[in-house]
Amino acid sequence: MSLLAVTLALTAKGLASSSISIVPQPASMTVNEGAFKLSPETSISASGGVEKLGIQLQRDLALATGFNLPVVRRAKANTIRLKTSTSLSKLGAEGYKLNVKSDGIEIAAYQPAGVFYGIQSLRQLLPAENFRQAKVDGVEWTVPCVSIQDQPRFSWRGLHIDVGRHFLPKEFLLKYIDLIALHKMNVMHLHLTEDQGWRIEIKKYPKLTSVGAWRKETMAGHYEENRYDGTPHGGFYTQEDLREVVRYAQDRFVTVMPEIEMPGHAQAAIAAYPELGNTGKQLEVGTKWGVYENVFNANDTTVHFLQDVLTEVLDIFPSSFIHIGGDECPKSQWKHSPEAQAKIKQLGLKDEHELQSWFIQQMDKFLAAKGRRLVGWDEILEGGLAPGAIVMSWQGEAGGIAAAKAGHDVIMTPGHSTYLDHYQTKDRKGEGVAIGGFLPLKSVYGYEPVPKELSATEAKHVLGAQGQLWTEYIPNPKRLEYMAFPRACALSEVLWTPAKDKDFPNFLKRLDPHLKRLSILDVNYRKVDDSQK
Ligand code: ACM
Repeated sequence: MSLLAVTLALTAKGLASSSISIVPQPASMTVNEGAFKLSPETSISASGGVEKLGIQLQRDLALATGFNLPVVRRAKANTIRLKTSTSLSKLGAEGYKLNVKSDGIEIAAYQPAGVFYGIQSLRQLLPAENFRQAKVDGVEWTVPCVSIQDQPRFSWRGLHIDVGRHFLPKEFLLKYIDLIALHKMNVMHLHLTEDQGWRIEIKKYPKLTSVGAWRKETMAGHYEENRYDGTPHGGFYTQEDLREVVRYAQDRFVTVMPEIEMPGHAQAAIAAYPELGNTGKQLEVGTKWGVYENVFNANDTTVHFLQDVLTEVLDIFPSSFIHIGGDECPKSQWKHSPEAQAKIKQLGLKDEHELQSWFIQQMDKFLAAKGRRLVGWDEILEGGLAPGAIVMSWQGEAGGIAAAKAGHDVIMTPGHSTYLDHYQTKDRKGEGVAIGGFLPLKSVYGYEPVPKELSATEAKHVLGAQGQLWTEYIPNPKRLEYMAFPRACALSEVLWTPAKDKDFPNFLKRLDPHLKRLSILDVNYRKVDDSQK
């Protein structure tokens, strides 16, 4: 090759790579010359257990291109070939290879999840318009020639959503799952019960929703203002709704992890069934934010009640991981309750913290017997961790470090780096009301989920991390999108991309075209400006 030809080739590559924007950034990618052109003559071939993904890709591409690409078993030329192969086991359950040549595309993986992630990258290599839900004319559907080999850094790549403080429609959960999957994340942590609302139908205890899903009004403005809107709020998902959400998520390789809060954050349930509380008083579903003193009692009948609830939950959610909350459980009612004190004595416990630990252990045993794993916020460390428990470290990293050192798996969710309900700019003017804090895009991007205090062996217990969307100040889907994006894009890269390849300026360059995709998907993201960097 002449010097001129080499220079031209490099320039072509440079141009191509600068226009490529995959979020999260793949582990390795080579950009080659040329492009594949999608046409009505292109076919999709799918084999090795990914036939359903072939049909999904056909449907996804049909809307914007207007092409009805046939899904065939055997690859010819001009084909997008999807396949799994046992010879690719080194890529792990979620890795993939994506090869785009001018005469065809191949996505190969060890497992179907990998093929799915290869498809996500392919869609990000196509013009952004391929995300439109209606036919787009005048676009050349080209894909630059690349060779990608990719796999995630962490197995737990989550986004949480609190539907207790504000009920959010089922249709939005489906959109949220699509957005999670687009960013190659794989967990939606669904926080279903709160002081201010119980959101899951439980057939054995219908008052949990007929009473517990509705509150008479909601705080208006920020907490300190102590104002109320005078407007009833509520809603819940039927079990059929939730089965639909789970199926939708499964098709996109997203695990829906349900959370049923106990023993704190329980006022809505106690309003429905006062015998679950400590005072016998009829309570109302919470209308104010914050931490309530009204917590579940620790009687055997209440433990059984909650295990009955979990039995129905397990029937809906196949997730191996089941979250039982465990955070922010004030002990004042247990201190003053003769029943709780008698229980402490009977069990030979030291104090109320050990009673909380006993309570969680009952759930741990129950879940373990059903082949599931208990997840709880870091307060489950109080009074001794249940043997199988996985800790979500939200009060900084100390809980995660302690749990990992004790040999427990942990998921990093520290407020300082993953609470996406915090303000994303320093100047709050024009931002709308948020709970407080300051967590700009740059800080999310810069977060390192493995605390440096952990040895290499202990670090293996860090399954990953997730972003939290608490909804006290997030009353509707558009507001949730504003708080979640683009910070969730940054988090996806924290969780997927090799640490050595993280590069904030490069992320910002790729984010710009990525935000065009989010616009097309009707996501109300926060525009990026210097205040978030
Ligand atoms: C939490 O933010 N209370 C887990």
